[in-house]
Amino acid sequence: MLNSVHDLGVSGGKKIHFRAHVKTHKTAQGTFKQLGFNLPASKITSNSILISTIREAHGLLDYQESIGKEYIKDICYSLPGCVLPILEQLSILTRRVENVRIFVDNVEHLDNLVRFGKPASRQRWSVFIKVDMGTQRAGLTTDSVEFSELLQKTQSPEVLEVVQVYGFYAHAGHSYASGSMEDAHKYLLDEIKAVNDAAQLLGKHAPSLDISKLVLSVGATPTSNSLRLAEEPVLTNFIKTNLKGILEIHCGNYCVYDLQQLSTGCIRDHEISGFVLATIVSSYKTRNEILADTGVMSLTREVSRFPGYGVCVKLEDILYKEPFSHYWYVARISQEHGILKPYGNSNSGVGDVKIGSKMAVLPQHACIAMGQFPYYFVVDSQGIVTDLWTPYQKW
Ligand SMILES: Cc1ncc(COP(=O)(O)O)c(C=O)c1O
Repeated sequence: MLNSVHDLGVSGGKKIHFRAHVKTHKTAQGTFKQLGFNLPASKITSNSILISTIREAHGLLDYQESIGKEYIKDICYSLPGCVLPILEQLSILTRRVENVRIFVDNVEHLDNLVRFGKPASRQRWSVFIKVDMGTQRAGLTTDSVEFSELLQKTQSPEVLEVVQVYGFYAHAGHSYASGSMEDAHKYLLDEIKAVNDAAQLLGKHAPSLDISKLVLSVGATPTSNSLRLAEEPVLTNFIKTNLKGILEIHCGNYCVYDLQQLSTGCIRDHEISGFVLATIVSSYKTRNEILADTGVMSLTREVSRFPGYGVCVKLEDILYKEPFSHYWYVARISQEHGILKPYGNSNSGVGDVKIGSKMAVLPQHACIAMGQFPYYFVVDSQGIVTDLWTPYQKW
C-alpha cells in the first residue's frame, strides 16, 4: 500500500501522504509495519495513524515509548466525538504525541470545542471536517445546508481562537459493495472529488485561507486497493491539474484482508493473511456435517457474498497454495460452535477430516473477528510461530 501511494505521487507529480488505520489488529507490531518501519521493500514510511478507540492510542504510545521509538507522531481519532467526556480524553492525548487530529461534522461540535477551550497541549484543536460522500454514516454531504453552516462557523473569531481546520476527510464505506478493482476506483475518484469540492467551498467562506495547505484524506480498503490498477490516467490527471490540497490516503483492513474484501474482486484469496484456527471436535456421517469450536464468539455474524460465517481451507494451503481450495464453510453458528458443510461442489466428506485436527477459517470481516481474540500468533512462510502480538482492545 505504501508503494502504491508512493507511485501515485510520482505519476501525479505531488507528494501524497499515507495514514494507517490500526482498528483491524490494534497492535504496535502491526502498526509499525503499516507505517513501513523495518520493511525493506517499502519505498516510504509514514508517522500518521487513525484510531477507533483512545485506548489504541495509549497502548501504541506506551509500546513505542518502551522501545525508545517515535514512529507514531500523528494520531487521528476516527469518530466525530466532540462531546465533553471524549474531548477530555483527547485533550490528555495531545500531551503525549506531536499531533492529534479530531473529526467535526456538526456545528455543535464547534460550540463544544469553544466551550472546552484549547486542549492540554495549548495548541489549537486540529480538525478534519468529515464529508459524507455516499456512505451515510458519519459526515455531511458537501451540498447540504448544514455543511455550509459548519464551514462558515469554522471562520468565526471565537472558533478560530481554538480550532484550526486541518483538512477534509472522506471514507467510502459503501465501496465494500464493489465487484471489481474498476468499481472500487470509481469510488476512489468520488472520494477525492468530494474532499476537493469541500476544500474549494471552504475557500469561498475564507478567501484569505491558503487551501493548498489543507489535507484531503480519502480511502477505504477497496478504494485504496484500486491504486494498484496500472495505467490510471483519470486519477493522475486529476491530481496534476485539479487537486486543490494535499492528498492523503488512509485505510486499515488491507493489512489483513478477509472474505468481505475478497468479495470486492480487488484481492485474491491467498492475500488474506489472518485466519481463525479451528479445532474439529466432532463429525456426523449421515448429514455430512462437522462440528468445530468456531462459533459467533470467534467468527461473529458478519457476512459477504461468500456463504456462511467463514470459509475453511487446509492449513498447508495458507502457507503454500495459490489459490486456496475451499473445502468446507461454516454454515451455522451458535455461541461457541460452528457447523461446517461442504463448500460448493467440493465433494468434501466427513471421512476425510480427522476429529481433533485443525483447519484455517477465513473470516468474513477481520476487523470484527480479530476483536474476539486476546492475542494473535504470527507465523512465517514455513508455518512456524515466530511472534505473538497482543492487541489494545476494548475501551
Ligand atoms: C472513518 C474510517 N476511516 C477509515 C476506515 C478504514 O477503512 P478500511 O478498513 O476499509 O480500510 C474506516 C473503517 O471502518 C473508518 O470507519
